[in-house]
Amino acid sequence: MTIKKVTKAVFPVAGMGTRFLPATKSIPKEILTLVDRPLIQYAIDEARAAGIEEFIFVTSRGKGALEDYFDFSPALEQSLRDSGKDDLLKVLEDTNMDSGRIAYVRQHKAMGLGHAVWCARRLIGDEPFAVMLPDDVIAAENPCLKQMVEAYEQTGGCMVAAMEVAPEKTKSYGILDIQEDMGSIVKVKGMVEKPKTNAPSNLAVIGRYILTPDVLNTLDAQETGAGGEIQLTDAIAKEIDKSGVYGLRFRGQRYDCGSKAGFLQATVAFGLARDELREEFSQYLAEVNAMQKAAQ
Ligand code: UTP
Repeated sequence: MTIKKVTKAVFPVAGMGTRFLPATKSIPKEILTLVDRPLIQYAIDEARAAGIEEFIFVTSRGKGALEDYFDFSPALEQSLRDSGKDDLLKVLEDTNMDSGRIAYVRQHKAMGLGHAVWCARRLIGDEPFAVMLPDDVIAAENPCLKQMVEAYEQTGGCMVAAMEVAPEKTKSYGILDIQEDMGSIVKVKGMVEKPKTNAPSNLAVIGRYILTPDVLNTLDAQETGAGGEIQLTDAIAKEIDKSGVYGLRFRGQRYDCGSKAGFLQATVAFGLARDELREEFSQYLAEVNAMQKAAQ
């Protein structure tokens, strides 16, 4: 089996981010900041670590701040250079994207994740590609998408990132029906989007995918699914009997930064992970904990 290298990633960021209103009235959700880096920077770093060379954003009205974020800022860079702030200069340089490596395409109406990915079809062409949802932030020693690329090199087909969730949470995710459990990789025989009852497993799909270009052909039909939206899960499920679909139980901790509780948890975790903040921040958290206990 010859497996083509995955060099393109699609970042669907055209959603309205209503759970973060009023902030998202003027700021894209992906620019919201964990410690000092916007969510999108975590996703880009993970993509680069996995060997991605072309970054395709599916955007919508009001997402201009995202495009500006990836631009060079010569005046700011010169000012940091003049004042000898080389460490900050390096931080800034990591946000720059070379011309031709980044592309933006508009989704004119939020018709679902499947539709957003389909909007990028001409930029993807006829090769396997990754899809990353930046509001899923994953802390991992070996970045999640890199783990997936390594697994995909063994399996081919489509690969989704999967994690075990509590039975009462299965109704909030796409859930895998497992044909064969091979340890960290599972072969999938079905996928159910947000099952209200009788979830086929507790293995949930989260926002990282490696997909064959055939998924785009399926999306051409523009079929709607759950919630009247064009669902990516439905199009991936069509690949089960074609190229095959696999789930990877990745090693790492995923934070749902599309929800307020998840965002706060990630802020604590990423704050504690920073050398310069750990001592002061953990002391503060211990104090808060003690105060809460005393008040009970
Ligand atoms: P969400 O379901 O989190 O929706 O989308 P949302 O609009 O971003 O946020 P809420 O629920 O209103 O707070 C999951 C991902 O799919 C993208 C979103 O931008 C997000 O990255 N998406 C969703 C699109 O790009 N287009 C769509 O039509 C739907």
